[in-house]
Amino acid sequence: NKRIIIAIDGPAASGKSTTARKVAEQLGYTYIDTGAMFRSVTLKTLERGMIDTVRSSPETIVSLLQDLTITFSDERVILDGRDVTSAIRENRVSRDVSFISSLGPVRDRLREMQQEMGRSRGVVMDGRDIGTVVFPDAELKIFLIADARERAKRRYAELAAKGASGSELPDIASLEQEIVERDRADAGRTLAPLKKHPDAVEIDTSALSIEEQVVMVRDLALAIL
Ligand code: C5P
Repeated sequence: NKRIIIAIDGPAASGKSTTARKVAEQLGYTYIDTGAMFRSVTLKTLERGMIDTVRSSPETIVSLLQDLTITFSDERVILDGRDVTSAIRENRVSRDVSFISSLGPVRDRLREMQQEMGRSRGVVMDGRDIGTVVFPDAELKIFLIADARERAKRRYAELAAKGASGSELPDIASLEQEIVERDRADAGRTLAPLKKHPDAVEIDTSALSIEEQVVMVRDLALAIL
């Protein structure tokens, strides 16, 4: 059995991470959530009180990248030695992550880390530019899309299930607006914009269950293994 790279790209909340995690589990592959890496850099910028500085002088971001380490261990995200799994999901991070991920030095650094993580293949990696930029040679490229309203509803259910309330549980309409704005920023940026690779298989998950989308992706993988 050869070990391949499965790249799963698509807009916010389209079911990439759930699908990628389960497909990886079934194939015995490693799952890598690249959105969590961009979120980690954003969290670090916020925690260092650097966000305004970086907004006015984007080159200052390099000082935060020098000692940056991000690792994944048992579904946990470890930023500079600290577990940030829940902190990177906070609203303030979601609000600023598209800006931070538009910066060249951030993308360069994370791309290197991602390519290293996939060096021995056998990975399912999800993000926005995995099939187009990080692993254009990925044997299987998937582009997941879904209706924005449907994505907002799923995100709402996910937050509610986690016990979120108050300001951590916005209504469906605000979630939809946030999702649409983030997609616009991610698709409109100059560097590695959100875009379907011509070879990617597009799957609309609006009317699919998680189980159904996992089976579709897994079967596509099995067909080339
Ligand atoms: O996947 P998730 O929604 O957690 O990603 C958060 C943000 O990180 C995206 O909105 C995008 O700005 C950025 N991102 C990126 N390239 C990737 C993965 C995520 O620019 N490969």
